[in-house]
Amino acid sequence: MKTNVFEPKILALLCNWCSYAGADLAGVSRLQYPSNIRVIRVMCTGTVSPHHVLHAFNKGADGVLVAGCHIGDCHYLKGNYMTIKRLSFVQGLLKFAGYDPDRLRLEWISAAEGIKFAEVVRDFTGSVRKLGPAPPFDAVPQRTATGP
Ligand code: FES
Repeated sequence: MKTNVFEPKILALLCNWCSYAGADLAGVSRLQYPSNIRVIRVMCTGTVSPHHVLHAFNKGADGVLVAGCHIGDCHYLKGNYMTIKRLSFVQGLLKFAGYDPDRLRLEWISAAEGIKFAEVVRDFTGSVRKLGPAPPFDAVPQRTATGP
């Protein structure tokens, strides 16, 4: 029987060194978590630009999870410090554009935290499900070459 429960599409941008390995550990440990996420491995959360996040929403994502090494553990030293600043800026942009900023979440998950990875995915999927489908991106006014 088919249910009418909204199943959000969530993009997960996971740092290669910590959170991707944490996701891998969750998998090999056979931990259960929702299949709503689609993972893209990045070398560091510091490589995630506002453009990547906005592009995900433009292409129909209902939520974006960015997860990387704990503060002090970034393999590129300052990558995750930049991520904090950048994603807080993007949350402001999302709010300005009429999106709930809670559609974007930043988490620190180490390679040893498979259980935490599964919990974060469960929790984030639940909260995005409560928010409902993301509004269409084209509802946001776009700037053109000739002006706004
Ligand atoms: S290498 Fe993991 S957040 Fe920078």
